[in-house]
Amino acid sequence: MIEESVDLEGFQLLDPTVQQCPHLYYEKMREECPVYSTEVAGVPIVLVTRYEDVLEIIKDTDNFSSNTGAGAAMPVKAELADRIRELYREEGGYDRVGTMLTIDPPEQTRYRKLVNKAFTARAVSSLEPVIREISAGLIDSFISKGKVEFVKEFAVPLPVRTIAKALNVPEDRLADFKRWSDDNIAAIGTALSDDQRLVHEKGIIEFQHYFAEQFEKRRENPEDDILTNLLNARIDKDEDPDLPDEPLTMEEMLSIISQLVVAGNETTTKTLTEMMRLLGDNPEQWEMLRNDPERAGKVVEETVRMTTPTQGFWRFAKNDVEIAGTKIPAGTRMVVMFSSANRDESIFPDGDTFDPDRDDLFSHLAFGKGAHYCLGASLARLELRVALEELVKRIDSYELTPANNFDYLPSFMLRGLKSLEIEIKPAQ
Ligand code: HEM
Repeated sequence: MIEESVDLEGFQLLDPTVQQCPHLYYEKMREECPVYSTEVAGVPIVLVTRYEDVLEIIKDTDNFSSNTGAGAAMPVKAELADRIRELYREEGGYDRVGTMLTIDPPEQTRYRKLVNKAFTARAVSSLEPVIREISAGLIDSFISKGKVEFVKEFAVPLPVRTIAKALNVPEDRLADFKRWSDDNIAAIGTALSDDQRLVHEKGIIEFQHYFAEQFEKRRENPEDDILTNLLNARIDKDEDPDLPDEPLTMEEMLSIISQLVVAGNETTTKTLTEMMRLLGDNPEQWEMLRNDPERAGKVVEETVRMTTPTQGFWRFAKNDVEIAGTKIPAGTRMVVMFSSANRDESIFPDGDTFDPDRDDLFSHLAFGKGAHYCLGASLARLELRVALEELVKRIDSYELTPANNFDYLPSFMLRGLKSLEIEIKPAQ
């Protein structure tokens, strides 16, 4: 239970003060109005804040749809939609098709099965040495300075380089890849001007051209990588006779790559950063890790719950339904607030306290649940654990410096610190 109190009168989801500490507001909503009507960018939405209601909705794909059209971006007015379409036509962009995160079963089932064939457990675990090497290299580049701006120097480059490695992006295109990743994410949960939105759409088209060329190259010369696996992925008829067995189209493959980048990079960056903030605020936990690095898995899981970087995600009511006694008409645009569910006191006593030894460590919904359960959860857990192990090995202790203002980026979907300054005492 947080001590301070807030008033829901005049609540604005995108208000930077709200996003600085939304937990106070979500706590109030859970108590007083668990299904809360508000609006974002002029569009009416409903926030669902209690654990049991969030869980019910995400498990029920018959009544609640994830179909947001081509992406997870904020809704746009008709005129901007026309300008975006025109830009794609002029620049030879590929149609963005909804895949996995933004569509419903059974179409979503087909994509998941195909992507699982490419993004296999073997492909993920084979990344462990790569992640260890990237982490160690990043730490080496700042450790002797005795201080680091952790977001820029560690939390951003680690996931970008990891996914770039998984997608076989060469070193000399890393900067472009990072920029395209930002372009893909820019319009999710943040208010942008029309011009800003168009600049990012242009970047997305560049990203499409780069990967389209890579897919074409692999059609001629297959490689042992995720891109080639995606090209070759098919559903066998005996595996599922009801799903079509044709290969993925270029539009579909590009949308899948875009989704891996959108879903994977920023989420992991934000969780890595929050992990260092939480451990900086709880130095005894760092000490415990130094003495027993096997605690890393628990610390990661509790960090994921506390951070919940994907604070919430879209759902649409397909039918007239009732949630927590509130009638929700068909067509209502909703946000399931994972971050609120993950601090619901009925499931997580002292939910605002960082406690890697809590019971039900794995009950959190930070990776969702059911049909849309995070496809990259094992990769995210691997990155976070390996990064933490490498940091703990090399850093004796550290402090969050007084220079920190702990400002969070103003997105209600992808929430995270803008920067984190740390002073380090290296391990001997
Ligand atoms: C700490 C890191 C991460 C968090 C907290 C996270 C969170 C989530 C959540 C909450 C969902 C479900 C959304 C919903 O139900 O509507 C999801 C889905 C997804 N995630 Fe993650 N994610 C993380 C890392 C990753 C990574 C590293 C990747 C891949 C490289 C990834 C790929 C995906 C994909 C493709 C989906 C869509 C699955 C589907 O709809 O079938 N995520 N993620």
